[in-house]
Amino acid sequence: MLTVRAPAKINLSLEVLGRRTDGYHELISVMQTVTLWDTLQFKPHSAVTMTCSDAQLGVAGNLVMGAIRLVKNKYHVAAGCSVHLEKCIPSAAGLGGGSSDAAATLVSLARLWNLDMDCATFIDLAADLGSDVPFFLCSGSALLQGRGERVTSLPSGGRNWYLLVKPPLRVPASAVFAALPSSSWTSGSATAAVAQCIRTHGEVRFGINGLQETVFRLYPEARTCYEMVRSLAPGRTIISGSGPTIVAAFSTQQEAVHAQGILPREQLWTHVACDFQPPGWQTPCA
Ligand code: C5P
Repeated sequence: MLTVRAPAKINLSLEVLGRRTDGYHELISVMQTVTLWDTLQFKPHSAVTMTCSDAQLGVAGNLVMGAIRLVKNKYHVAAGCSVHLEKCIPSAAGLGGGSSDAAATLVSLARLWNLDMDCATFIDLAADLGSDVPFFLCSGSALLQGRGERVTSLPSGGRNWYLLVKPPLRVPASAVFAALPSSSWTSGSATAAVAQCIRTHGEVRFGINGLQETVFRLYPEARTCYEMVRSLAPGRTIISGSGPTIVAAFSTQQEAVHAQGILPREQLWTHVACDFQPPGWQTPCA
């Protein structure tokens, strides 16, 4: 049996540069994997079967099944596998859980089925599955460009602590991008500065999130929650990806846990995390 962790990501900065002719948006973003993960267990099996701890998540349309179909077709694999997905990362939350599960599946299948998959093939298959999936082949800290599939690893920015707070909403990324006005497009310089700061000083700071105002317009409850979190970490709060998860940065675990204790947790999902780099074997393209 093969057991892998698929970590969540946060966006330290995300800017939309414009709309492309293929319907996607041109982005620049800095992402960081954190200590929150789904766990996947793969076993050799004659057919393809999947179970999931979250009964609300459909198995057929899951990106894990999409990754299995893609690899089977590409390499004409006759064998099957059984997969169990233990879900801890909230879905449709801006934390990249589905994308991370898909990347972990690609890496696991290459091992399970002894496939001679080179780095370029990993990246191509990952990009076919979703714009964020290639990032999770490397994980850690990285600069993302293009529609998100062009990934440049960044050095570790040390140990930073984050409080993640999610209001009870599911936000599909497609809805946020579809409603994004061109007035939210920016030059990318704030995100480039965040990447530069990590490179030269090993320091993590937040930039801007060009999707944030659109998320707030579509989901006013997200703004209310953001304001509440911001009052606990002024100047150190940002929405992750297309939301609605809000991230606040703290220098110590104690400060993050203290802020977590102040929030009305019966209405909100909260989690204290720090930066996380998965073990080397899980990162074929690092
Ligand atoms: O690539 P992925 O399937 O994860 O993207 C989900 C949706 O988010 C796309 O269908 C598209 O509507 C939107 N998107 C976008 N520009 C990007 C990434 C995603 O418009 N760079």
